[in-house]
Amino acid sequence: MSNQTIIIRDAKELASLTKKIQHEGKSIGLVPTMGYLHEGHLSLIRAARAKSDFVVVSDFVNPTQFGPNEDYATYPRDEQADFEKVQSCGADVLFIPTVESLYPNGQGSTWVEVQNLGNILCGATRPGHFRGVATVVTKLLWLSRADYAFFGEKDYQQLTILKRMAADLGCPTEIIGMPLVREADGLALSSRNVRLSPEARKQALSLNHGLKRASAAFKAGCRNAEKLIWEAQAEIATEKDTEIQYISVANPDTLEIYNGDVPDQAIMLLAVKVGGVRLIDNMRLDK
Ligand code: PAF
Repeated sequence: MSNQTIIIRDAKELASLTKKIQHEGKSIGLVPTMGYLHEGHLSLIRAARAKSDFVVVSDFVNPTQFGPNEDYATYPRDEQADFEKVQSCGADVLFIPTVESLYPNGQGSTWVEVQNLGNILCGATRPGHFRGVATVVTKLLWLSRADYAFFGEKDYQQLTILKRMAADLGCPTEIIGMPLVREADGLALSSRNVRLSPEARKQALSLNHGLKRASAAFKAGCRNAEKLIWEAQAEIATEKDTEIQYISVANPDTLEIYNGDVPDQAIMLLAVKVGGVRLIDNMRLDK
């Protein structure tokens, strides 16, 4: 790639650069991340590069989306490695703001919140999480003046919420979802995978196996939510260090949770702690 990536740390500096780029008539693509980039993130950056004239990648571990007992302090970080990866994908800017730059008046004075969708599934066990996500993404969309913003389908609920947020607020940015990326053995890529012990790494495969088992049952004609959940649960429960937070079957567009009868289009979503590390995964049952 010929593009030289520049690092910007100040929100106002990014805003004035993207204003200039927009006035030049160029399209802007944004890839919001919390860093510790893996192949899933890089697939988003490449998609942004292919669709937009100017690409901004943000690398910010956002404090407002972590609960008091969550892993904000220990979330993996590696700025130099991130820079090299972003550069290799040809992005124009790597935005690494300080907390003060993104939250100049402190945290919590203004929130963006998508009601209902933000309180189910991951939102039920992580109160306030999606409010923090929607708030920081709104700031990033605003500062980057993005025409397109790219998010992975691994965070399926997050993607659904951000699409709803953009629609509700009349946001000019197109929110684009990109396919979940897995390791060759099926583990969904996540920055948190680095915290899995070798034993937990093996046990974590049960998430993918459970989803596949539910999907096979769905394809064989099972249309009962509890039975489909049982299939996934039975697989995950074979591993001793797993603690299921939720397994749900839902409408892929609205995330309406199904109990009992399941129609022909459905997605299964789950969150499981494996050896103490919280992982999420999902699979369309109908594809
Ligand atoms: O998916 C993530 O990494 C984060 O939730 C996001 C969208 C970058 C907001 O902090």
